Amino acid sequence: MNRARLALGCGLAVLASAGMAGARGDMTAASARVWVGVTDPVQARTDYQLKCQGCHRPDGSGDDHSNPPMRGVVARFLGVPGGREFIGRVPGVATVDLDDARLANLVNWTLHRFDPDHLPRDFRPYTAEEIGALRAHPLRLERAETRARLVKAFDDQG
Ligand code: HEC
Repeated sequence: MNRARLALGCGLAVLASAGMAGARGDMTAASARVWVGVTDPVQARTDYQLKCQGCHRPDGSGDDHSNPPMRGVVARFLGVPGGREFIGRVPGVATVDLDDARLANLVNWTLHRFDPDHLPRDFRPYTAEEIGALRAHPLRLERAETRARLVKAFDDQG
């Protein structure tokens, strides 16, 4: 590589990192944050209203007895081993009558919408392929136990 190209390369690298720093700065404002993996937010919101909020409530607060809250907590599953898979395999997600691409869009939206603070910075959004593979094995009776173990794991993290 000659000098000029090297200099150009460095310049671009600096520009790219400046751009990334800018994007990070924006993320402090939840509204300006980029919702990675959400290709169609309008569709996701509608799908949430039709398929999920009956149990999880419109604001993701769930209830005190059977349906868990998602607000302020759901992305914590991504921070413990097995949690990412769990999200794609709980029956409410795995068995919903939406195709894999629409479901991936919805699950990514759900994470951004209800728990942006716990979303890892390097969050890898679910793809249709990953969702398809996970939902092929929906959790059944073992899910309560699995869930309890995961919740304990992230509670232990503090
Ligand atoms: C019939 C009620 C019901 C519906 C409808 C439902 N869920 Fe759930 N959801 C639950 C319950 C109950 C759990 C706890 C795990 C279990 O027992 O299945 C859960 C767990 C979850 C979890 C894992 C987080 C946790 O705290 O366990 C996610 C994510 C989730 N649901 C998302 C969705 C999405 C997205 C939809 C719509 C496509 C949906 N759910 C529809 C009842 C429901």
